[in-house]
Amino acid sequence: MFITFEGGEGSGKTSVIKAISSLLTEKNIDHVTTREPGGSIIAEKIRKVILDTENTNLSAEAEALLFAASRVQHLEEVILPALNENKIVLCDRYLDSSLAYQGYARGLGIEDVLKINHYAAKSLPDYTIYIDVTPELGLKRVSTRGAANRLDLETLEFHKKVREGYLKLAEMYKDRYIIIDGDCDLETLIERTLKKIKAVLA
Ligand code: TYD
Repeated sequence: MFITFEGGEGSGKTSVIKAISSLLTEKNIDHVTTREPGGSIIAEKIRKVILDTENTNLSAEAEALLFAASRVQHLEEVILPALNENKIVLCDRYLDSSLAYQGYARGLGIEDVLKINHYAAKSLPDYTIYIDVTPELGLKRVSTRGAANRLDLETLEFHKKVREGYLKLAEMYKDRYIIIDGDCDLETLIERTLKKIKAVLA
């Protein structure tokens, strides 16, 4: 089973994935946790280029292509081998991040970014957990986290568009999307997500 986790900045995805991983370990369920952009040595090198705050003039198109390049490398090196071994894969961000950020918020178009991801999107997630957080709250949380990356530095307007993009994707891909209301404390968010995951695994 391939499960991806999506959300805007400061949505709490990383803590949620840790809690799910602990649950799976407790139940002796073989799984792998990984993240994008990155997740393999070569893909992590591409991540550095994408998130480098010095790359202020990276074009939107080049950015989308780099995310896709990092994704296909990660897919082939990490995700597909784990799925072939019947492991559950928990991935922090995947294709939908590109559709929401580059396709919708940057304005490249969801359809065009899907095309760019032709090689990377050959495996779609079984479930996508989308943690829906108002951008004001999410950005407030990341502001206390220290070093920001190139995308954290975008305007509030951009992050509002990212959220709009995700809500559109949730409509487009109803069958695999699970929306979690993330405007709450971390403990409640983890509780809400674990409840959904237990239902999926049952
Ligand atoms: P990261 O530090 O991993 O952020 P987070 O903790 O929010 O997941 O940085 C990844 C950034 O890259 C994040 O701002 C979302 C963005 N992103 C895209 O714009 N497109 C993509 O395809 C992916 C995978 C990430």
